[in-house]
Amino acid sequence: MGSLYGKMILRVCLFFPMPTWSRVSDLISEHGRSLSQWIHLGGVKAFLDGSLGSSSALFHEPYEGDPDNYGLQMTDLDSLLNRTLESDKSGLQVAIHAIGDKANDILLDMVDKIVDLNGAKDRRFRIEHAQHLAPGAANRFGKHGTIASVQPDHLLDDADHAWSKIGVERSERSSYTFRSLLDGGAQLAFGSDWPISDINPLQAIRSAVFRKPPGWEVPWIPAERLTLDESLKAHTMSAAYACFLDHAVGSLSEGKYADFVVVPSTSWDEFSSDLPGHVLATYVSGRQAYP
Ligand SMILES: *[C@@H]1O[C@H](CO)[C@@H](O)[C@H](O)[C@H]1NC(C)=O
Repeated sequence: MGSLYGKMILRVCLFFPMPTWSRVSDLISEHGRSLSQWIHLGGVKAFLDGSLGSSSALFHEPYEGDPDNYGLQMTDLDSLLNRTLESDKSGLQVAIHAIGDKANDILLDMVDKIVDLNGAKDRRFRIEHAQHLAPGAANRFGKHGTIASVQPDHLLDDADHAWSKIGVERSERSSYTFRSLLDGGAQLAFGSDWPISDINPLQAIRSAVFRKPPGWEVPWIPAERLTLDESLKAHTMSAAYACFLDHAVGSLSEGKYADFVVVPSTSWDEFSSDLPGHVLATYVSGRQAYP
């Protein structure tokens, strides 16, 4: 373990399966949240529904051409609430996967319940994906500081077949509503969902700014595009905040690690008009780590 430690140049924030919450909680009591500057114990993760591609994301309305299929609720709600309350009470951060609009509504209701039962605090409850939202749902995240942990790169694929799964009207009003989430007061954190999609953050930022899938002439749901500044913040400061790591990373500030990349642009204007697809160099803790 000692030699592996020395070679690690990537910071990770780990989430463990929710049923193991009491062991994670014990581990944190014993060692603290940071096992080293590289390894942080984040909290616990659970799944409420499936995915759009496999017609198992949980929706209020049925799938197109499949009138009995509303998707799957993967977890019993009583036990999910019970474990979430117990984890939350023990100080763990909780992240729950929700893709369909109904799954997201269930979690937003659950957060209200958690606040009622365990009290208000800085818990940074994370909804993972928050991919399809019912009308009005985007405005509910801000109330208790709930984090919408989204992966812009997935929209490149879903743009091509969301309409066949849930129809054009539903997909246009509900999918990857980043603008509505930000305007509604959500904490919007970007991620990659690697290895399912590209790990390159510049690609995710490009997807959020342009929303243009390969081969498309026009953006998908252009009203939900973000600016470059908003997208950068979502992939840096807000992603750090979403892991309770904003004191250590997420911006170049005094007291934080000097983690940064060098991009092949000579000015901010050049960078913003022609977002590069790769970086020239990566620095971690102020030391060159790539190339
Ligand atoms: C969760 O379930 C366990 C076992 O049934 C019970 O002892 C505990 O009180 C429950 N916790 C909450 C917060 O409901």
